[in-house]
Amino acid sequence: MSVSTVSKKSIDIKIQPVEKSRLADIDMSNVGFGRIFSDHMFVCHYANGKWETPEIVPYGKMELSPSFSAIHYGQAIFEGMKAYKGEDGEPLFFRPDENWKRMNHSASRMCMPEIPHALFMEGLHSLIELDKAWIPDNDKGQLYIRPHMFATDEFIGVRASDTYTFVIFTCPVSFYYKDPVKLLATKEYSRAAIGGTGNAKAAGNYAASLFPDKLAKSQGYDNVLWLDARLHQYIEECGTMNVFFVIDDAVVTPIPTGTILGGVTRDSVLKLLKDNKNILGLNSVELRRVSIYEIEDAYMQGTLREAFGTGTAATIAPIAKIGFAGKDMNLSDERPISTWLYKQLYGIQTGKIYDPYNWVVKF
Ligand code: COI
Repeated sequence: MSVSTVSKKSIDIKIQPVEKSRLADIDMSNVGFGRIFSDHMFVCHYANGKWETPEIVPYGKMELSPSFSAIHYGQAIFEGMKAYKGEDGEPLFFRPDENWKRMNHSASRMCMPEIPHALFMEGLHSLIELDKAWIPDNDKGQLYIRPHMFATDEFIGVRASDTYTFVIFTCPVSFYYKDPVKLLATKEYSRAAIGGTGNAKAAGNYAASLFPDKLAKSQGYDNVLWLDARLHQYIEECGTMNVFFVIDDAVVTPIPTGTILGGVTRDSVLKLLKDNKNILGLNSVELRRVSIYEIEDAYMQGTLREAFGTGTAATIAPIAKIGFAGKDMNLSDERPISTWLYKQLYGIQTGKIYDPYNWVVKF
C-alpha cells in the first residue's frame, strides 16, 4: 500500500464533543444510504469577507431564518467523499484534494467564497478523528462525508449573499444502488446547457432533475440518462454518476463540455483503464462525444458489451438497462470490465491493493 500522510494543524477549531455517543444504538450491519448521521458536525461561518473560527459540535438542527438567501436564490453547493477503514483500523481518504478543488470550482461558479485548503482539510481531519468509530467495516460500507456551503444573508432580492455557512457532516453508508441500474434517456428534459451550472456541484442541478427522474421512475427506471440540451442526442451523465460504455474493445465516456460533473471516481477510472488496457483486453479508452444513436446501433450489432456509472456514492454501478424512444436495451449480466474496476478501485481505496498514484491519504 502507498499512502500519503497529511498532518499538522494550522487553524484553531473549537470542539464541543457529545456527552454520549449514539453509536451503540446503531445497527452497523444495516446502515442503508444517507439516513444515519454520526455524532458530530463541523461548522464555520463566513462574514465580513473572512472565515470565522470553526467549531465541531454535536450533529443536530441548525437555526434557520426563513429569509436565508440560499432557500430563495439557490446559492448552495456540496461535495461527496468517503473515509474507508484501513488495514490498521485508521481512516483512509481518497483524493480529498480533488473534492476541495471541485468545491471551490462550484463556489466560484455560484458566486460564493472559496474555502481555504487548511480550513477544508483540517476541518475534515478533526471531524473524522472524533467520529472514526462510525466508519463501517469494509465489508459493510464506508463513512460518507458531505461538505457543503449555503448562503445565509437574511435578504429578499437577487444578489450574492455576503454571509455563508460551511458545514461537514458524515454518515455511515452501504450501497447507493443495491442492484444494477436502469436508465431512461429522454429528449424531453435537459439537465444542463452549455454556459450553465452543469459542472458545478450545485444543489439546484439536483432539484431540476427530480421531476424527470420521477417520470422515469414511474416507468420502472431508476434515473434519467441525460442527453445534451441542444441536439438531445449526445449522452452527458446520469445526475447521480458519470457514465461509461464498453463497445467492442473500446471504453468510451462523454467528453466534458462544461455540462457534466468532473467526477473524481470518473477521473480515477479513466486512469485505471488507460494503465490496464492490456490486462483488460482493451484497444482504446476514448473521451469523446457519445451519441445515444451510437449506443443503440452498438446494441443492435451486439457490440455493446457493458455500461456502467461511476461516482462517490454510486461507486462503480453496472447498468442493466437503457430505455430510449420506447425501446429497452437490456445489457448482459457478464460485466468483466466494471467488475475488475470495482475490485481494483475498492482495493486501492481500502489500502488492500497497492496505490501507484498516491490517491489514498492518511491524515
Ligand atoms: C456523490 O456521489 O457523492 C453524490 O453527491 C451523488 C449523490 C447522488 C449522492
